[in-house]
Amino acid sequence: QSDRRIYVIANWKMNKSLTETAEFFQEFKSSNDVSVVVCPPTQLLYPTQLFIKQSGKPVDLGGQNVHWADKGAYTGETSISMLKDVGCEYVIIGHSERRQYAHEDDVLVNKKVKQAIKAGLIPIICIGETLEEKNSMRTEQVLSTQLFGALKEIDSGDFIIAYEPVWAIGTGQSATADLAQQTHSYIRSVLKQIVGEKAENISILYGGSANESNAAEYSSMTDIDGVLVGGASLKAQSFDGIIKVFA
Ligand code: G3P
Repeated sequence: QSDRRIYVIANWKMNKSLTETAEFFQEFKSSNDVSVVVCPPTQLLYPTQLFIKQSGKPVDLGGQNVHWADKGAYTGETSISMLKDVGCEYVIIGHSERRQYAHEDDVLVNKKVKQAIKAGLIPIICIGETLEEKNSMRTEQVLSTQLFGALKEIDSGDFIIAYEPVWAIGTGQSATADLAQQTHSYIRSVLKQIVGEKAENISILYGGSANESNAAEYSSMTDIDGVLVGGASLKAQSFDGIIKVFA
């Protein structure tokens, strides 16, 4: 798996209270052998950073979204310097739920990715096809359009790609490890066209109903460099179980 970093990342989405977050970090073990990132909802970023420090566990912090501008009259938004200010080193950009419910398109995703890279945060760029696109054999076309769109005018390799087939998110219908490997290898070939040989060192994570039982299959694949986990990251024990597999 070359020099690629292996990541196990929690995307808590719109879940957890302050108390539940404190309880999570009392139980959570984490590991030094993989890069572990927790992405809580915005209002929990700062307390989460404190809980991480208190626990002394190796965990980095990530945001779930960011605005494309750095400051100003954007009611309800959070900027990249605000994320940095509370200790974030990562930020999820272009998650399919944002594409679907907040109508984010590749142009907006590209603006946010540029903003993150400029500020020194690592964007976790989410791409993936819907069931309808998969059934009409358009997966590669969709992924290539999303990658070229998200990475327009970017030539560094300072980002993570998360392949999250929309049909696998929160459905329990995870992609088979073989299918994910095949798709990740395609994604890497597109990344090569965009950033050249740096593509070899870019971590490509799988996301979509990843859990303790299927993690081992993903971890054995050459182009799967970790997982981005939703539901199974909410309980410290099951998230630790996944981390153990990759460590
Ligand atoms: O970003 C992670 C995600 O969309 C996958 O969610 O609940 O299927 O693991 P889940």
